[in-house]
Amino acid sequence: MQSRRQRIDRYLEKHLPGNKHHVKLLLAQGQVELDGACCQDGQILVNQFSRIKVAGQLMPHETAIYLMLNKPAGVVCATVDDEHQTVFDLLPDDIASVSGLHIAGRLDRFSTGLVLITNDGAWSRALTEPQTKVAKHYRVTLEHPITDDYGPAFAAGMYFPYEDITTQPVTFRKLSEHVAELVLTEGRYHQIKRMFGRFRNPVKSLHRYRIGDHLLPDDLAAGEYRPLG
Ligand code: URA
Repeated sequence: MQSRRQRIDRYLEKHLPGNKHHVKLLLAQGQVELDGACCQDGQILVNQFSRIKVAGQLMPHETAIYLMLNKPAGVVCATVDDEHQTVFDLLPDDIASVSGLHIAGRLDRFSTGLVLITNDGAWSRALTEPQTKVAKHYRVTLEHPITDDYGPAFAAGMYFPYEDITTQPVTFRKLSEHVAELVLTEGRYHQIKRMFGRFRNPVKSLHRYRIGDHLLPDDLAAGEYRPLG
């Protein structure tokens, strides 16, 4: 989803009657307000969520939505699915129907936990692009015992020939014989399952409890959502 960033003077030239000179005058006269403050600099960048007032009149804008949802197992991170319930089916219709609503980092069908949902493409890109290295925290339960060679192998990165990439270092902490916590800074396709697959150790459950500063609250039950605070 694109964030439509542009200069405020260009935006006003497109959306107001009159010419460039008229827009310059409005800015110079202090008749333009951006997000509650007077704006006289035509080069300031705005996007589809900016609240711009001209002579006290609010211009059309979109409302930014930022939600966290506790995904139950069996629900898919997709916009539509003929067979399974989707995370958007767990939202009320008036939110689920907002244009451009999307997931900032998917989970597989049987994974559970924190899913962030937004209509702000710039925000979701900053959370999900590998180069921004936002930490994603997972708790994993495995079928077979965890041995001492897992930690070094996850830290070193693994080569995935299909994508021709080596995974970024993963922080690995063994909590018990079958349970570990992992911190990833990227989200390759089925990454965690494929990494444990190298040890022929199937993942029994996979739960994401944190993305960057966003922590899944204990009182947000599976299937529930809430706006980000
Ligand atoms: N890695 C996986 O294998 N599955 C997920 O849902 C998330 C990360």
